[in-house]
Amino acid sequence: MTSVRRLTVLGLGYLGSVHAACMAAQGMDVLGVDTDAKKVRQLASGQVPIFEPDLAELLREGLRAGRLRFTTSYAEAAAFGEVHFICVGTPQRRDGDAADVTQIMDCVTSLAPLLSRPCVIVGKSTVPAGTAAMLSEAVAGRAPAGEGVELCWNPEFLREGHAVKDTLNPDRIVVGVASSQAEAVLRDVYSAQIDAGVPFYVTDLATAELAKSGANAFLATKISFINAMAELCEATGADITVLARILGADPRIGDAYLRPGLGFGGGCLPKDIRALQARANELGVGEAVGFLREVDAINLRRRAAVVSLANETAGGTVAQETVCVLGAAFKPASDDVRDSPALDIAQILHREGAHVKVYDPVAMGNARKVCPQLVYSASVVEAARDARVVLVLTEWPEFVAMDPVELGAVADSQRSVIDGRHVLDAARWRAAGWDYRALGVPHSPDRRPHPAARALAVGIAAASSVTPSYVGAASAAVAP
Ligand code: UDX
Repeated sequence: MTSVRRLTVLGLGYLGSVHAACMAAQGMDVLGVDTDAKKVRQLASGQVPIFEPDLAELLREGLRAGRLRFTTSYAEAAAFGEVHFICVGTPQRRDGDAADVTQIMDCVTSLAPLLSRPCVIVGKSTVPAGTAAMLSEAVAGRAPAGEGVELCWNPEFLREGHAVKDTLNPDRIVVGVASSQAEAVLRDVYSAQIDAGVPFYVTDLATAELAKSGANAFLATKISFINAMAELCEATGADITVLARILGADPRIGDAYLRPGLGFGGGCLPKDIRALQARANELGVGEAVGFLREVDAINLRRRAAVVSLANETAGGTVAQETVCVLGAAFKPASDDVRDSPALDIAQILHREGAHVKVYDPVAMGNARKVCPQLVYSASVVEAARDARVVLVLTEWPEFVAMDPVELGAVADSQRSVIDGRHVLDAARWRAAGWDYRALGVPHSPDRRPHPAARALAVGIAAASSVTPSYVGAASAAVAP
């Protein structure tokens, strides 16, 4: 078999733009395709429309080497590609929890009639199980090359902010294929990774689809688990940051995705757990993943808890108060504000009457587009000026490194900080005169037992000084 040289990547968002640049960096000729002409022009001129570390360098290197080009033309893509990667979005439907697969259907059904020579279509987007089989049928009925066109599934596990690294050095590669020819093509495309020892799993279409939905459901569950424990910490006076470390030290549990805080957001985990539930319901096995409803609810409750804490620390209500929100992106090293917990909280506080000032090192442009009603500040200091409450909601390194003394000089004299991500040094902030608050962490700086723990202790002491009441009751119950 000759080696694969010419790839296309259809859909140039967070996934596709990275995939295209990385495949070109590995020596393949890549044609990126998107229906958005502005995005295509930007990429073709070496401008990356998203914030993703290392992507701009790879893009420009690919353009310079002539291995990377961009177009809006599906006909050009069909004529060019031996392998077509489908990377379009599968957002949540507006009318429910299921995934909206319109873009992927449109993409594949537009491409298929143009495919007059053998090639492989590789789906990478996250889709409900069964979508690949449905698309295979759609391709079979439309492509002039007939059986020479095969559709496979190759889910992508990259994390935003680490997307280039995750694409070039993934943990694993999963391919769902129906034939050994398609497997050989994908082994060829990923030969650099396979040679480097990356595990390569070959399976059927449905298993490949579920590999992605399952991974995201597990990660979301792990995050919500530790946040559920934070709720218990709040009720008992325990400390979630210490508890998370203790639980994570068990190698069977592990500390990855066990960071408590504001919970998960972004363009993937929230919509993917809902889509998995919706698909399971359609398949009649909704009960099997019914727990994901709780995972979602726990996650959203963290946002409400931060809003309550903000109201409490502002003396009862944030209305009419200046509130500083540090962070708009759903996580650091990203400008993505889709389902961002930080921006969600900023909007709720605004609705509750607070004068909200937001600062984020890279996501303010995107934030402004979706939340024009908020005030955006040019720096941390500007955002914090006169703020009755400062909320750290995205753990950007520059927020972690903030000097509490310097910030204390500009904030309201009450100096209230809410650490939504457990990243600040509580002792340092308290020493600088701040009222430091975090979810699942005892409020009292001197670590006096929580009132609930004190009540229990009093109860135990009282009970131990007299004959426990249940002894007599039990004896009476069994007396003849
Ligand atoms: C996720 C998956 O990791 C990735 O494999 C999949 O392809 C897409 O979805 P991503 O959305 O980029 O990637 O973000 P990720 O780094 O996984 O974080 C998701 C969210 O969980 C973020 O909001 C993050 O702040 C939060 N999180 C993560 C926690 O709250 N606690 C943790 O311990 C880990």
